[in-house]
Amino acid sequence: MNLSTDYLGLKLRTPFVIGASPFCESTAVARQLQDGGAGALVMRSLFEEQIDAESRALVHHLETPADSNPEALSYFPQFSEYLLSPERYLGQIADLKRALTIPVIASLNGTRPGGWTDYARRFEQAGADAIELNLYQLVTDAATTADSVESEMVETVRQVVRSVQVPVAVKISPFHTSPAQFVTALEGAGAKGVVLFNRFYQPDFNIEEMVVSPQLALSDRSELLLRLRWLAIISPQMRGSLAATGGVHTTTDVVKALLAGAHTVQLVSVLLRHGPRFLTTLVNGLQDWLREHEYESLDQLRGAMSHRRCPDPAAFERANYIRILQSWRV
Ligand SMILES: Cc1cc2nc3c(=O)[nH]c(=O)nc-3n(C[C@H](O)[C@H](O)[C@H](O)COP(=O)(O)O)c2cc1C
Repeated sequence: MNLSTDYLGLKLRTPFVIGASPFCESTAVARQLQDGGAGALVMRSLFEEQIDAESRALVHHLETPADSNPEALSYFPQFSEYLLSPERYLGQIADLKRALTIPVIASLNGTRPGGWTDYARRFEQAGADAIELNLYQLVTDAATTADSVESEMVETVRQVVRSVQVPVAVKISPFHTSPAQFVTALEGAGAKGVVLFNRFYQPDFNIEEMVVSPQLALSDRSELLLRLRWLAIISPQMRGSLAATGGVHTTTDVVKALLAGAHTVQLVSVLLRHGPRFLTTLVNGLQDWLREHEYESLDQLRGAMSHRRCPDPAAFERANYIRILQSWRV
């Protein structure tokens, strides 16, 4: 069964992409995932703050005076707390490229245009086949307008795209007023694809110690539904590629994401929970499902349940919300 798919102009042998995560850290594990059927691997992110911290650390080292504005950045990890220095990150790209034959996608994580985006070019020089630009942002200032935030994001994408030849995918959050319009603007800035969606790790309250405690919980399947809706709405309006990330745990989830219009599914939580070997179960599961339902390729399946092609487009819209609320009786 042919599972090949086009993603960002790259030919992948399967739609299973290892999402940005610690799985890139060992070339042995990465190779195991490749052998298990991965079509590509996304590395964990190098952060704008981390690159800036390194520059500041260098300036500090060279010029010695105290940091000009330590307070503003004191909530971010210090340079030494990041797992990989920017230089080591470039080395890891080269290591993975040597060990793997599938595409290696390096991940750059930031929000505003700036010198840090130059790392996209350095990723490319180190051998990355594509860049995943993660625009994770949480705006807390009431004076900041949605328009100014999105304009900066689009400008950041433009800056990254201009600096490289390899394709750029953009990983976004679901919290945009008009996600389809935003995706169109990202494509206008040169993005070759979009990754839906970033997960927000909601901090909890510890009410005995009166502190806000950050936590990292792995995803569950219910998180896929938000992705399915927006994949279905955005896919008919987009020229480029779509990746689903968040809540893909079973073969059924993979099929649903493809039906909604995804070119690839990214996996992290499911493999952290069950181990890298579980990938083969998902690959075999997809092959069996396609065979049983007499599909010959993923192209036949992709987007069959999108907003434009599904039998009941209203199911994705406000009408469905009203219908659902009216359906409850006590
Ligand atoms: C331990 C861990 C580390 C992660 N690191 C990154 C990262 O560096 N950059 C990024 O864009 N996403 C990162 N993610 C998010 C994943 O790439 C993915 O989008 C998210 O976990 C949702 O997919 P899932 O439901 O398959 O886990 C990380 C997730 C986990 C669990």
